Amino acid sequence: MHDFTISQDQLYDDLMSAARAVTDGEPDAIANMANVAALIWQYIPDLNWAGFYRVLDDELVLGPFQGKSACIRIAIGKGVCGTAAETNSVQRVADVHAFPGHIACDADSRSELVVPVSKDGKVIAVLDLDSPLPNRFSLADQNGMTALIGAITNKLG
Ligand code: SME
Repeated sequence: MHDFTISQDQLYDDLMSAARAVTDGEPDAIANMANVAALIWQYIPDLNWAGFYRVLDDELVLGPFQGKSACIRIAIGKGVCGTAAETNSVQRVADVHAFPGHIACDADSRSELVVPVSKDGKVIAVLDLDSPLPNRFSLADQNGMTALIGAITNKLG
């Protein structure tokens, strides 16, 4: 069980403020992705991977992240990340073993949350969070991460 000393809302408010602060005035998308991945890693408990894949030449390519080294290229439509990119929709997966085509970069991963980063209706990247706990990600996490990405999209590409 998590022992949160602050509420989920407060946690996501704090994360949002920190992400706005570190990306403020910085136009480089890679630098901003690196700092946002580091902030998520620092703020959000029970993750084994947090980072970005960018859409480059019609595939997903590994971007800035925290965690173990990971799969470098993922076809659009493949796995959880590729599904999020293809459908431009959040994928919140309680049990990755039950997700058809899940790509196991880290065998410890049990649940996953992937949020597309889209500009003018086009997916330019995805934020991928993995947890070693089954069913780690709540609707509050989905909404918090979606709001975070929405607030800083123009800093990510
Ligand atoms: N599990 C992901 C691949 C990326 S890693 O988790 C970092 C997927 O199925 O898309």
